[in-house]
Amino acid sequence: MTAMLSIDGLWKSFAGFVATRDVTFELLAGETHAVIGPNGAGKTTFFNLITGHLRPDKGSVSFEGRDLVGLPPQKIVRLGIARSFQRINIYPRLTVFENVQVALIAHEGQQWNLFRPGRSLHRQGTQELLELVGLASEAEETAGELSYGKQKQLELAIALASQPRLLLLDEPTAGMSPQETGETIASVRDIVKARGLTLLFTEHDMSVVFGIAERISVLHHGEIIASGTPDAVRNDPEVKRVYLGEHAHG
Ligand SMILES: Nc1ncnc2c1ncn2[C@@H]1O[C@H](COP(=O)(O)OP(=O)(O)OP(=O)(O)O)[C@@H](O)[C@H]1O
Ligand SMILES: [Mg+2]
Repeated sequence: MTAMLSIDGLWKSFAGFVATRDVTFELLAGETHAVIGPNGAGKTTFFNLITGHLRPDKGSVSFEGRDLVGLPPQKIVRLGIARSFQRINIYPRLTVFENVQVALIAHEGQQWNLFRPGRSLHRQGTQELLELVGLASEAEETAGELSYGKQKQLELAIALASQPRLLLLDEPTAGMSPQETGETIASVRDIVKARGLTLLFTEHDMSVVFGIAERISVLHHGEIIASGTPDAVRNDPEVKRVYLGEHAHG
């Protein structure tokens, strides 16, 4: 498999605090890859450096052979990378349908037209995405009133509206009940498979990580201390010591 995303010697500091330390990383086209690590390890920062929400101090990020450093987030979305955020990021007062519709309109670059009922824009595309994430029957509900798990599903539909080839999910099951977690992960797995997506995700729930990741990278104090198959990572002595050891006590 070829590398879809190649990251080389990436550094990021916040006022002298090093959050990303010389990270070199390759994501293969089509793989499902988890980035794990304790709270504050630098997972979200790593995602922000990929998606243009943060600019690295040093190093390169290349997606399908194209250098991403310095590009604004909306440009990176257009190149085929979509993400969800650790905190819910939807329009709470709009309906579920409208949230997805707005995302499709934003992506297609279509303007609201005075002579065309807004409702008809991307009607079919919106419907398809809602069905894909299992929200078709909630289309007319106010987004902010959905359960937490369903709001995360809505975020996923919004991310998919940009037709990404690479999907970044930052803790897709955080705050979910075990049942919601199971449903969300099953749905993510189906969607990734159906659309042939490459998936990079962070997650604290190890049953989720080891349940779906084909490869895992471990971040610790901003540094990748291990990267490989679930078995290799599970048995890595340094991972056991610094990561699993910390969790066993926390
Ligand atoms: N904008 C910022 N300014 C200052 N420090 C920051 C900023 N963003 C992140 N940090 C610090 O960088 C470190 C890594 O944070 P980050 O959010 O990337 O960790 P994380 O692995 O995503 O943690 P969690 O599992 O809690 O989500 C933390 O110590 C955090 O306080
Ligand atoms: Mg985080």
